[in-house]
Amino acid sequence: MKGGGALVIVGLQWGDEGKGKVSYLLSRRASYVVRYQGGANAGHTVVVGQRRMKFHMLPAGSAAGAAPCIAAGCVIDVRRVLEELELLKQLGHGDRLYISHAANVVLEEHKALDAHMEEARGSPIGTTRQGIGPAYADRALRAGIRVEDLTDSKLLDSKLRLITKLHGCERLTSSEELAQTAGSLAKYVADIPVLLNDAIRNGEHIVLEGAQGTLLDIDHGTYPYVTSSNTVAGAACASCGLSPRFIESVVGVAKAYATRVGSGPFPTEELGGEGQLLREAGGEYGTTTGRPRRVGWLDLPLLRYACMLNGVEWIALTKLDVLASVEKIKVCVAYVVDDGEISIASPHMLARGSVKPVYEEFSSWNKLSTEEARHIAAKGWDELPTTMREYVESIEKMLGIPIRLASIGEETGLEVWR
Ligand code: IMP
Repeated sequence: MKGGGALVIVGLQWGDEGKGKVSYLLSRRASYVVRYQGGANAGHTVVVGQRRMKFHMLPAGSAAGAAPCIAAGCVIDVRRVLEELELLKQLGHGDRLYISHAANVVLEEHKALDAHMEEARGSPIGTTRQGIGPAYADRALRAGIRVEDLTDSKLLDSKLRLITKLHGCERLTSSEELAQTAGSLAKYVADIPVLLNDAIRNGEHIVLEGAQGTLLDIDHGTYPYVTSSNTVAGAACASCGLSPRFIESVVGVAKAYATRVGSGPFPTEELGGEGQLLREAGGEYGTTTGRPRRVGWLDLPLLRYACMLNGVEWIALTKLDVLASVEKIKVCVAYVVDDGEISIASPHMLARGSVKPVYEEFSSWNKLSTEEARHIAAKGWDELPTTMREYVESIEKMLGIPIRLASIGEETGLEVWR
């Protein structure tokens, strides 16, 4: 494509793949970085030197200097947006933010309903209780409060009355207070489709930062144990008002092992001591909720399916350093099902019946000090420990998709490009 275009970053597992770091790295040369779905259920971490930054609402790539945008398909936690905007100002990135007038606002009522729904279910989903599902439900019911409504306290009041009536819930939001807090967002409201289409026409590059992960997609994930939005790369176009013709590339982010927060099928879950070792070494506790994450082995049948759904061009494989905490690394290369062995599996089939993972084992490597990791990052691919290189190259071969970035430490700079 002549001129500019958009690159989509998408998680290939159940979220927490390390998209924050990858977005930071890929946004360094972008004019804009856009969050296109979800809300404050996300927790994208970026570590630059001694500084650790957590983004729940703004795209993590904005820490690299690209102008942050929040597109129509997001549900917004107003307070979080304002807090993270302050963080960007402290980083010296100025007072820039572009929010879609059509994005929906998450209310305290939505958070209460989220908790209530979880309690009412026989088998809770294990949501982040950030009000995500109820806010998307109101959007679909055409009862939602959109960013464009925030300055009109009369309209807000009638919408709030409708929402409490619809759900039979207690009123927790004062329209005056909401209008006052949200009033400070008014100057950031923008026509995101025009902004992004103009930028592309002018030859600029844009990063579209996905949240959660493909296996949590409301249509393609392990329903009902999913989030309430489409997390796949294809959703980015609808949310941003961009034609699919402008997507130049789709980058999939996968962790070198697997984790999941909340309930739902997880065929490669490791419940023994090795799972605990990985959890501790990888700091596998929720960024948003602090909950311990369930931990397991890389699952290639699901990863192949996720790559297919997103049309992944290349993969960023993260947290390789964490696997040094175990001696033998397992990788699920296929599933045994009723009628034989399969190498690609849809999340949908996990909910329907049981599968038995077929594992291949790989030797691990010694723990790298930060100094060693820095040295390797500076020297490049051939300096990776041999067993680590073999691990990455075997996965690449089994997936048939290039792994162009291997992350060997949390900090930005501790990664190897190819
Ligand atoms: P909700 O998005 O809060 O409704 O939660 C639905 C499911 O998605 C739960 O299993 C959550 O733990 C999971 N989830 C939501 N956001 C994230 C995320 O950013 N990382 C990992 N899991 C998430």
